[in-house]
Amino acid sequence: MMTLLELKDVTAFYGPVQVLDGVSLSVPDGGAVGILGANGAGKTTTLRAISGSVRAGGSIRFDGRDIRGTRPDRVAALGIAHVPEGRGTLGDLTVRENLRIGAYMRRDRKAIAPDIDYCLELFPQLKNRITSAASALSGGEQQMLAVARAFMAKPRLLLLDEASLGLAPSTAKNVYDAIRRLREESGIAMLVVEQNANLAFELVDSATVLETGRSVLTGTSTELRDRDEIRRAYLGG
Ligand SMILES: Nc1ncnc2c1ncn2[C@@H]1O[C@H](COP(=O)(O)OP(=O)(O)O)[C@@H](O)[C@H]1O
Ligand SMILES: [Mg+2]
Repeated sequence: MMTLLELKDVTAFYGPVQVLDGVSLSVPDGGAVGILGANGAGKTTTLRAISGSVRAGGSIRFDGRDIRGTRPDRVAALGIAHVPEGRGTLGDLTVRENLRIGAYMRRDRKAIAPDIDYCLELFPQLKNRITSAASALSGGEQQMLAVARAFMAKPRLLLLDEASLGLAPSTAKNVYDAIRRLREESGIAMLVVEQNANLAFELVDSATVLETGRSVLTGTSTELRDRDEIRRAYLGG
């Protein structure tokens, strides 16, 4: 499979403070790759380096071109949609407005309404809430909306940051089941940051482990699941 996204020895800085020091990973076209790591390991910063919202060094290539240092709106226009930690939905706007805003850069305007219908089929909970303000939704519904809004941009790559954070286990599972279906049906590639490795391994083919801003281990989901240190650190034994 062709490599869609490739990071080599990526560094990142908040002001003078370096928080990434050698992150390398690659996402095949249509593939799904996880990023595991403790709190503060640099998972969110890695996604920010890709989407252009933090200063980065090293090499970040998407679809054959160097995108390091590219502004976030340009990165989005190239086909990378970022679902940030904390969801980033627009609270004052309705569910439908959020979905339409997700699609604002698209030229295929006629395909937008059917894609909204698809989102509502993928996340049926959003259907009854279509005219509600995003801020009135439950945490799980807001996460569903954040993923659906990112899908509405018709990206080639989705960056997902801790989609299960703060959700009840059954809700988190619902969200991941829908994301997996989206992956199967759309072929959108995914880079998935997730503390809950059990959920992540249901979705991704492989994963990279970060420790203090550096990639320390990469393997297929099956390989990683079987390793003692991964079980202890991320799978609860
Ligand atoms: N806006 C910021 N300014 C300064 N330091 C930050 C900022 N955001 C995160 N950090 C620091 O960068 C490191 C990596 O954070 P982060 O990427 O959020 O980790 P993770 O997502 O793996 O929990 C941490 O030490 C964190 O304290
Ligand atoms: Mg984070």
